[in-house]
Amino acid sequence: MVSRTIPVDCFDLVLFGATGDLAARKILPSLYRRFLAGQMPEDARIIGAARSEMDDQGFRDLVSKALKEFVSKGKRDADTIDAFLAQCHYITIDATGDAGWSQLKGMMRDGVVKAFYFSVAPSLFGALAERLRGHGIACEDSRLVVEKPFGTDLATAKQLNADLAASFDEHQVYRIDHFLGKETVQNLMAVRFANVLFEPLWNERYIDHVQITVAETVGVEGRGAYYDKSGAMRDMVQNHLMQLLCLTAMEPPTRFEPDMLRDEKLKVIHALDPMAPSDIVRGQYKAGEQASYVEHAENPESRTESFIALKVGISNWRWKGVPFYLRTGKRMSRRLSEIVVQFKETPHSIFEREGHVPANALTIRLQPDEGMDLSMTIKEPGPGGMRLVNVPLDMTFADALGPDGEEIPDAYERLIMDVIRGNQTLFMRGDEVEAAWAWTDPIIKGWVERRAQPYKYAQGTSGPEEALALMHRDGRRWRDLTEE
Ligand code: BG6
Repeated sequence: MVSRTIPVDCFDLVLFGATGDLAARKILPSLYRRFLAGQMPEDARIIGAARSEMDDQGFRDLVSKALKEFVSKGKRDADTIDAFLAQCHYITIDATGDAGWSQLKGMMRDGVVKAFYFSVAPSLFGALAERLRGHGIACEDSRLVVEKPFGTDLATAKQLNADLAASFDEHQVYRIDHFLGKETVQNLMAVRFANVLFEPLWNERYIDHVQITVAETVGVEGRGAYYDKSGAMRDMVQNHLMQLLCLTAMEPPTRFEPDMLRDEKLKVIHALDPMAPSDIVRGQYKAGEQASYVEHAENPESRTESFIALKVGISNWRWKGVPFYLRTGKRMSRRLSEIVVQFKETPHSIFEREGHVPANALTIRLQPDEGMDLSMTIKEPGPGGMRLVNVPLDMTFADALGPDGEEIPDAYERLIMDVIRGNQTLFMRGDEVEAAWAWTDPIIKGWVERRAQPYKYAQGTSGPEEALALMHRDGRRWRDLTEE
């Protein structure tokens, strides 16, 4: 397969929070991989910015360490690392004070794309934006990249939007939800809107329900302090699962353009039904192979959920009466993220004597083994009469790309390059984030008021039994997490 990597324009990417965990784990390794792919221009620069006193060499040592830790061995070598490091620079800066800002201004070049990446606590967004504007460092077409969490509720999200809007226009702001950069998520749009097969069936007439699972095997060890204030609802549902739901449920945009797409997603959020407590199951993992959630969170009284399952309704013509079941959790049996679109059974079965014919299901696998499969019922080959079997029409992307195909890039690689290209399609707009919080807030408020306790669940399982019951009571069942 011929590489389709298209070089981007020359850029200066100023990375605030350059000494932090996300920079080391995701942002710097992703930039290095794009460098290896030949996408990063030779004179592009990554300018690390943080409070620590350090020179360029100190920062390069840090980047080199991060690459050794977070880029697999076969994918890096000393020569390319050295060449990449030569494009990395550093500036000590005080986000809330004056130190470093005039030096940063002195470093900026005309005629290149300027991107400012805020990989810092959201409480610093406003101060950074103000200084970038105030010191004349950012200009009309500069880009701001901000990480989640974008607020902890509607009020804080509104405040963050206002803080950014005081210095930048919406078309300059790139709010990251890294799930949107995942290959399969983009492919969901391609499958829905570039094929004639699915659209006629993509509605309440033919779809029984949709289930979205993001199961993780990791716990919250090491990030308990953040997580305990957040929980699965804020950490995963308000953003990642909400985005998956929107892309599955939205109407076709007129064109594949940022605002057209985001308008359609926003309409879905506005159509979400308010949630009844009986449609929500929250869980918290018990001690098992690892310590319990409350030990990881260092809060014995914690009522925060490390697992949540919800039955969500969408009140519009397309989806009325079709439940969207969402679940996500830590320390579950398997790392698996998928969207299953479960079609209805045929109106009448002519094969009744041959037994039950399972209905079709389209499974969109985000990870692992990115791909899709459509389960079909066919006749079992052979002379043994009309015996029916359910087989998947499987498209695993790595296989489809072939042995010489490009590797499926990490979400961050795609997203950072989109920032440089000036393409906001896979980023969340301010009103979208606010609408998601407006739906989430009353749900959280409800269980805080009721002092609701999450159900305990054993580590390495599918979560609490009650989550299974959420579907069983409707005569449906979750996809078995132990099935390969
Ligand atoms: C992050 C959450 O946004 O997404 C984490 O804060 C979660 O709790 C992570 O583990 C999952 O991302 P991925 O790409 O590993 O599925």
